[in-house]
Amino acid sequence: MKRDDLIHPIISGNKWRKLKEYIDFAQINASNSIISFGGAYSNHLYALAYVGNQFNIKTAGIIRGNELSINSNSYLKQMSEWGMDLHFLNRESYRKKIIPEEIETENVIVIPEGGFSKVGVLGLESLISELKNQINADFIVTAVGTGTTAIGICKYAKIKTIGILTLNNLTEIKNNSQGFDLENLLEINSNYIFGKYAKDSKTLNDFCENFYKKHNILIEPTYTGRMFYGLYDLIRSNYFPSNSKLIALHSGGIKLTH
Ligand SMILES: Cc1ncc(COP(=O)(O)O)c(C=O)c1O
Repeated sequence: MKRDDLIHPIISGNKWRKLKEYIDFAQINASNSIISFGGAYSNHLYALAYVGNQFNIKTAGIIRGNELSINSNSYLKQMSEWGMDLHFLNRESYRKKIIPEEIETENVIVIPEGGFSKVGVLGLESLISELKNQINADFIVTAVGTGTTAIGICKYAKIKTIGILTLNNLTEIKNNSQGFDLENLLEINSNYIFGKYAKDSKTLNDFCENFYKKHNILIEPTYTGRMFYGLYDLIRSNYFPSNSKLIALHSGGIKLTH
């Protein structure tokens, strides 16, 4: 297991990989702020708020749902305390990714929802150089939301990458994969979505709990839980040839409030 969850308690896993190129860019170009989008529990915005606070870069978060406020949950509150300027949009405006007029847009960086972009993919290069010093794997397995992580892994590792899909967005992943030289090495598996994104499932909750009891490693049901569940199932059904060397990416996602 590649323990990217250990990178940092808040900007753990793929969040740091996906954000660090943007931070470099913001610092080099003295950008005024970084703006991004997300839901009320977005790991991506939470990490961005923290990073902005630590690197002294202004951030703005555009949140889906104008019924919400900074007091709607502890994550939003924490993000606001870290200095992120939060704006709550109705679902229609959010869908259109409208940036509210009151947000300054001169010399700002806009990160798409979930962090998918060429810049985000670039951030995965460091993960692969770390891995290459450790193990020559036959397969890497990772959870897929926007596909940024899986695409980056596949692009830089050039080995078979199994992406366990966590939501019903296969077409989006196919579109996002266009233009990267993946040599048909990225395989997206849609069998472990468990209905829809983040849908609660006793099977998954029990799986995550047992995983923790057995390995003393925390995973959460939305991403890494679905991924490890899928991985175990694939192993059991002999998907991988015997003696294959597998790397599972623990992409973080355990949110701790301070
Ligand atoms: C813990 C965790 N793992 C995996 C993913 C999926 O990453 P990607 O959007 O790069 O496919 C996310 C996305 O938010 C995540 O929070």
